[in-house]
Amino acid sequence: MNSKMTTPQIRALKGQVKLVACTAYDYTFARLADELVDILLVGDSLGMVFQGRENTLSVTLDQIIYHTQAVARGARHAHVVADLPFMSYQVNAEEALRNSGRLISEGMAEGVKLEGGVTMAKTVERIVEAGIPVMGHIGLTPQSVHAMGGFKVQGKSPSARESLMQDALALEDAGVYAIVLEGIPSGLAKAISEKVQIPTIGIGAGVGCDGQVLVSTDLLGMNPHFKPKFLKHFAQVGEEVKDALQEFAQEVREGVFPDASHSFAD
Ligand code: KIV
Repeated sequence: MNSKMTTPQIRALKGQVKLVACTAYDYTFARLADELVDILLVGDSLGMVFQGRENTLSVTLDQIIYHTQAVARGARHAHVVADLPFMSYQVNAEEALRNSGRLISEGMAEGVKLEGGVTMAKTVERIVEAGIPVMGHIGLTPQSVHAMGGFKVQGKSPSARESLMQDALALEDAGVYAIVLEGIPSGLAKAISEKVQIPTIGIGAGVGCDGQVLVSTDLLGMNPHFKPKFLKHFAQVGEEVKDALQEFAQEVREGVFPDASHSFAD
């Protein structure tokens, strides 16, 4: 896996192999994940898992640019896509285009992601026309947390299901290269995935999607207490970190570390 994953390749992989994506916020993690996943998402989830906020709403464009620069330096293979944060694209299409341009030229992202379906289609078109690849994101859209009344599964009623199907089709028509389906019933995600010609990437949307994405700190089990239904901890890194720090602290306090093998001779 030497060459860079491109958006045409991502599109072409639909129906061939499942796409694998995870979030990344820094260089060291990007280096580790680069050869193992197809897509690194610099998600505005960094507001919650990196900054400790209640939601993603206070994340700024400059913060996303800063983290994207770090991730891009570590990504030799994986495609790097960066989130347009809250209010960086909702006001109008021109502002959305200008801010997308900053993620590409300053952040070194290779694509941008925004939340919303039918209502965002014109904005997506404007950005895509300028040569910037756009990834869509529908269903549980965290930037609408207050409108949704919390982080709740979407698309449960027949009319909500139909709206989400229309959202996906509108995004496809507008030119997105992939769509994140978050927090929707698995049958609906499968139906959307079968209907659109572009890859769907699920999170809390079942196995019928064309790929899966998880927040890296979540899948690594860095917060052992955070375990919503859709999440699997693929490691217990939180416990490992605590064990290592405990051992380090003990060895320092007992004068065991550093020993001769970790010291420079006179
Ligand atoms: O911000 C983020 O990490 C995301 C993923 C959860 C898809 O949008």
